[in-house]
Amino acid sequence: MTEKTVKLKISGKTIQARVGETLVHALWAAGMAESVKVGCAGGVCGACTVTLRYSDGRTGGTELACMKPVEAGMEVFPCPVEADAPVTPVAQPELSHLQSVFPTLDRCTKCGSCTTACPMSIPVMDSVLRMQKGEFQAVAEDFTTCIHCGLCRFVCEDKVKPHNMGLWIRRSLGMSRDIAIEKTEVSVEQEWKYLLDESSEQRLQRARQFRKSGRIEP
Ligand code: SF4
Ligand code: SF4
Ligand code: FES
Repeated sequence: MTEKTVKLKISGKTIQARVGETLVHALWAAGMAESVKVGCAGGVCGACTVTLRYSDGRTGGTELACMKPVEAGMEVFPCPVEADAPVTPVAQPELSHLQSVFPTLDRCTKCGSCTTACPMSIPVMDSVLRMQKGEFQAVAEDFTTCIHCGLCRFVCEDKVKPHNMGLWIRRSLGMSRDIAIEKTEVSVEQEWKYLLDESSEQRLQRARQFRKSGRIEP
């Protein structure tokens, strides 16, 4: 039986892929592994984010290449986001700390592109506005489901770096906690299952509960 294949374009180059395989597998098979970054290969880390255009008039958008099956006529554009030097978090963070380590904070022109680009439906622009007011607890919640794909930074013409700031705030609040992280009976496998199978709302509830008690409840 002949294998069913489709043609698609990666950064303008046409490749042939097997029906049913993911974009990442298609790129590996075509010898183009370097054209997209891969981390977890399981839809969690966001490293493989690409933007897509379809040939049948459907609206394209951002997708995780490790989870997205190939389709005929699809055009794929990798989103290379350069790594940024890590910024050390501080305990009990205040607005002045954030402004000094991220002077880009006040550059936001409220264009909304970051919110539109986010594959996790995080209200990124609103969260940047919350950062400007020093509402850090709310920001930490906004970024709970961030997969750090870097797309919000990639599309920002004003180089505001929303997710880098969101991560810095989450880490800073994390090191400000005075409750000990407790051992839990939840196994690593179970934690992965929570991450992969649960809805965004369930993951947010888990994160809130963890911040309160320092434990992952089964
Ligand atoms: S893309 Fe940049 S300038 Fe536009 S709303 Fe987001 S952070 Fe602000
Ligand atoms: S907030 Fe930014 S880095 Fe996080 S998932 Fe959304 S687009 Fe990706
Ligand atoms: S490689 Fe981690 S989400 Fe695709």
